[in-house]
Amino acid sequence: MYDLIIRGGTVVDGSGAPRFRADVAIQDGRIAAIGPDLPVAARRVIDARDRIVAPGFIDCHTHDDTAVTSLSHMLPKLLQGVTTVIAGNCGIGAAPFTRAVVSPPLDLLDRRQIDTRSFAGFVDEVERQGLQVNIAYLAGLTTIRAEVMDDTGRAATADEIARMRALLADALQAGAIGASVGTYYPPARAADVDEVVAVCADLDPARHLITAHLRDEGDKVLESMEEAVTMAGRLEVPLVISHHKLLGVANHGRSAETLARLDEYARLQPVCMDCYPYAASSTMLDPGKADAATSVQVAWSTPYPEHAGHDLDEVAAQWRCTRAEAAVRLAPGGAIYFSMSMDDVRAILSHPLTMVGSDGLPHDACPHPRLWGSFPRVLGRLVREERWLSLEAAVHKMTGLPARRFALPGRGALVVGACADLVVFDEHRVLDVASYASPRQAPCGIDWVVLNGQVKVEAEEVAVAACGQLIRRAPGVAP
Ligand code: ZN
Ligand code: CU
Repeated sequence: MYDLIIRGGTVVDGSGAPRFRADVAIQDGRIAAIGPDLPVAARRVIDARDRIVAPGFIDCHTHDDTAVTSLSHMLPKLLQGVTTVIAGNCGIGAAPFTRAVVSPPLDLLDRRQIDTRSFAGFVDEVERQGLQVNIAYLAGLTTIRAEVMDDTGRAATADEIARMRALLADALQAGAIGASVGTYYPPARAADVDEVVAVCADLDPARHLITAHLRDEGDKVLESMEEAVTMAGRLEVPLVISHHKLLGVANHGRSAETLARLDEYARLQPVCMDCYPYAASSTMLDPGKADAATSVQVAWSTPYPEHAGHDLDEVAAQWRCTRAEAAVRLAPGGAIYFSMSMDDVRAILSHPLTMVGSDGLPHDACPHPRLWGSFPRVLGRLVREERWLSLEAAVHKMTGLPARRFALPGRGALVVGACADLVVFDEHRVLDVASYASPRQAPCGIDWVVLNGQVKVEAEEVAVAACGQLIRRAPGVAP
């Protein structure tokens, strides 16, 4: 007697291999059997005829560090079929952080409900509060830098580097899977390759990786890729280039250059990237970046919360000031920048080294729709409507590829013995509904989500039980 059997579905196993018809039986949180017409009984049966059965999606670029314990904050992920998230991206970690002043972008996370004094204490506390999805943490180097340095506007001293290195070593000891670098952001801009490499000296090439929010995703994108590749190369660790994109009209079309360059790097060292399927980005509201975008939408504002969701030019017109001046008055805040070309986005997403990562911001008042729609948008628009990718290739980018690149054992593969994280969806109906004007909307066509063997989502109803798991990198053991 199995716990659960998913009958009659078409399995897309996450490896990129062609689909096949099979039943999937689940026992004790693991996949126990896969085969056509399994002659077995189960306490619970899901009828998956005319449905795709795939490994639960892995959102490999998130800022769900503190949101993961909250069912309401994780609804957007679960309703898309996401069962595992990588947090701590872009240099932004929740812990270790004890400062009273939280300068942007570190304020993208909500630390109010949790003790962030140490990384180890933080992840223990998160685990104790209960996880709504599986989560693995990167240690955010910008957070560590802001924790150690009183003035982040300069290079770190030898003593500061030693203290940062020790804090990162603590995080790795507590199970972090690697470190994230965010030299794009003001508190990390003064960090050069030497500083990052020195801080990361304890990364283990066999067990850890780095991710990088590039210093520049516009005119200097190639130089910035070179910087990140150099860091990873000197550390001999794999590199993930975060949310690869080309910002600014002058750079539209340059994905041809950047992807060719990435192919060259990938021949020499392990490099890959993540991407979300939208032509607008979203991050802190930065007055210095506002003019480069075609248009800007306010995602949140501390002094003017009523302007969340409004166009920055309309706010500026109302205040009779420039776009940049309006941004200064609205800060601290978040914004959505319309500044990419969808042709670049398609080219990047369909590259074999690209994984799907939402980069969704769960605490924004009016978030970028990528938070609620990234995965169904790839499946509905890029796969079904535009035939830009096969379903098998798209699912691989959401499952097997990130599981391998982030070294998440037991995840991302629909095989016997794997963790029973599954999504059952209708390939003919799956579609994102969230829009820039109305971002908090559940997608269509995701029918069931199973998390560690428990039915977590059924008919858009989400179970309360916190059955997610913390994925820790065990000390000294290659995953
Ligand atoms: Zn980023
Ligand atoms: Cu990010």
